[in-house]
Amino acid sequence: MFTELERLSARPEPFAAITTDLLWADPHTSGHMLAHHLDGTVDISSRTTDTIERSVAWLTGTLGVGVGAGTRVLDLGCGPGLYSNRLAALGAEVTGVDFSERSVRYARDTAPAGRGSATYLLGNYLEVELPGRYDVALMVMCDFCALGPEQRGRLLRRVAGVLDAGGRFLFDVYGLSALATHQEKRSFTPNPSGGFWSPRPYFEFVSTFVYEREKVSLDKYVIVEEDRTRTVYNWLQHYDPAVLRGELDRNGYDLTELLGDLTGAPFDPDGHEFAVITTPRP
Ligand SMILES: C[S@@+](CC[C@H](N)C(=O)[O-])C[C@H]1O[C@@H](n2cnc3c(N)ncnc32)[C@H](O)[C@@H]1O
Repeated sequence: MFTELERLSARPEPFAAITTDLLWADPHTSGHMLAHHLDGTVDISSRTTDTIERSVAWLTGTLGVGVGAGTRVLDLGCGPGLYSNRLAALGAEVTGVDFSERSVRYARDTAPAGRGSATYLLGNYLEVELPGRYDVALMVMCDFCALGPEQRGRLLRRVAGVLDAGGRFLFDVYGLSALATHQEKRSFTPNPSGGFWSPRPYFEFVSTFVYEREKVSLDKYVIVEEDRTRTVYNWLQHYDPAVLRGELDRNGYDLTELLGDLTGAPFDPDGHEFAVITTPRP
């Protein structure tokens, strides 16, 4: 028991294990995540409907994504297609990639008929073959921050490999001020009737760690059921814009514009998030 408790509360090295699929692609938890995506009043899993619509308006109006049929858009971690389907309805040719079967099914079922097109690929965007060439790649809701350094490099190389010359990669990230919202703490909760992690009874141990030097936070969940134990790591990298610019530069990208978010708001140095428009160098 003592050794077990020591193990479940141990502090791992940053990004020592990546388990994002246990949260997003698990048959049970993906149902909860999809319900959050589809609740347009909360910023959980997806942003509120109002923010999504303002983002799509900014993308179409300011960047020309989807305006005048044919802009080719790659939406990485597209979830249930809340952006992809709207952009397709405006004339874009969108390919959405996600490893949640439940979300991809929803996205396909709600894809618009008519002007543009929305095609969905079920798979890990770090591994699945990305078909075709694109004018714009998107990664919305700070998913970039859930990846470790090696995975971010791999993602940037993959995106550069499928963007046409002059193509842009737009994504949002957590700023340094958001790191202060994470406090180190531990909790233990019995769930005798099941809940978020399982329909069966389980015990949930949560340890929150903050890595000040690396600007990383971790919520580590150990979920103990009668016949299995899972550890789920929710890592978040937080960025100073200069550090992100350096990371992009090392991976062959220029950071061409710094924004407050993907609705096109101006960059706020105290904001919890910011967004970038980046272009791979030829
Ligand atoms: C925070 S949600 C954002 C969803 C969508 N971009 C939105 O804003 O509505 C992150 C999404 O990325 C997906 N995802 C996370 N890691 C992934 C990976 N390695 N490959 C494919 N999809 C991934 C999840 O299933 C989830 O749908």
